[in-house]
Amino acid sequence: MTILVTGGAGFIGSNFALEWVAHSDEPIVNLDKLTYAGNLQNLASIADNPQHVFVQGDFGDTALVNHLLATHQPRAILNFAAESHVDRSISGPGDFIHTNIVGTFNLLECTRAYWGGLKADTGGDAKAAFRFLHVSTDEVYGSLSKTDPAFTENNKYEPNSPYSASKAASDHLVRAYHHTYGLPVLTTNCSNNYGPFHFPEKLIPLMIVNAQAGKPLPVYGDGQQIRDWLYVKDHCSAIRRVLEAGTVGEVYNVGGWNEKPNLDIVHTVCALLDELKPRTDGKPYHEQITYVTDRPGHDRRYAIDARKIESQLGWKPAETFESGIRKTVQWYLDNPDWVANVQSGSYKDWVAQQYGAKA
Ligand code: NAD
Ligand code: DAU
Repeated sequence: MTILVTGGAGFIGSNFALEWVAHSDEPIVNLDKLTYAGNLQNLASIADNPQHVFVQGDFGDTALVNHLLATHQPRAILNFAAESHVDRSISGPGDFIHTNIVGTFNLLECTRAYWGGLKADTGGDAKAAFRFLHVSTDEVYGSLSKTDPAFTENNKYEPNSPYSASKAASDHLVRAYHHTYGLPVLTTNCSNNYGPFHFPEKLIPLMIVNAQAGKPLPVYGDGQQIRDWLYVKDHCSAIRRVLEAGTVGEVYNVGGWNEKPNLDIVHTVCALLDELKPRTDGKPYHEQITYVTDRPGHDRRYAIDARKIESQLGWKPAETFESGIRKTVQWYLDNPDWVANVQSGSYKDWVAQQYGAKA
């Protein structure tokens, strides 16, 4: 028994790999291209663990994916790999189309051939037990007004950014491979994650890092846009649960019932930093907040209705927003080297030093 994950050196994928090794004895093969967002430093604690096999490569590389499937014979594939940052998708959508749509298409094609070759009558029915789990986002559902009910799995798709449109396209492909070919797929659509190893281009880590560096804390527009926050390890436990017990062909929304306006998030981060690492001049960090031009096409509100995964699969998040954000701020304070490395790009040198040819 083995699972194969793509994008397992990124923020959520690396947390997932670490959690997987902590919760299971089953081997995990981790295919990641190591784009700017992929970081082997995230996986340092399992670098020498034989249960975790890291492979640097592109999930759009047919020969490589076919080779990995033939060699490792996974019983499940979990697709985390993506270009994930909305602002980057606005300034350069091409990579998002190529990675999120074409890359996922390639992975599905390789999976279809591999799954088709599994024998139904041997190995405890490997074909029936196989799963393809696609990790997606709540952004595919578009934007809510203040009074709209939260997104359920029945909401129609209304993606507004090149990022969310590319994720929506990949979701549709996954759905089509189930309906057309019978591929046993599962899809999760999760809200905003936060926690360790979050690249400091995203709101929460950017605010923590900029605040300490004495830089402005850029709030887009009026800061009243709402996001629904989930601690990353809770997202990982939801994915494990869906993999274990989800019904084939179904979609599961994942969220922690934590809707917050961006400005509140920034003030919370500032208050925690005031407590845990006060400014040397004694002034509050919130003085660094700076209102900047809004993101084009900025979605106003996301909110996840998580009742399906809670009631059907018995999943619940372990962290409240208050406990999760405190752990997160503390993690960044405890890991200044990680921050310095990802900011300078020198983690590539670090990786070469630590891993040599493996990287
Ligand atoms: P991330 O940008 O931190 O990591 C993405 C990873 O994918 C990186 O390690 C990168 O190197 C890898 N990758 C990119 N292109 C690749 C390719 N062609 N082949 C192999 N690997 C490749 O992203 P994340 O925040 O960890 O998100 C992971 C997944 O979860 C994405 O599919 C994203 O859409 C989804 N998601 C993210 C959030 C969130 O809040 N971050 C919420 C819901 C869903
Ligand atoms: O909802 C799930 C999505 O959450 C994931 O699918 C994406 O991969 C992930 O990046 C995230 O997208 P967002 O656009 O919501 O995340 P981001 O951290 O970029 O921004 C969160 C909110 O904060 C958003 O309303 C924009 C705002 N923002 C962001 C940055 C980086 C600011 O006001 N200032 C900033 O500097």
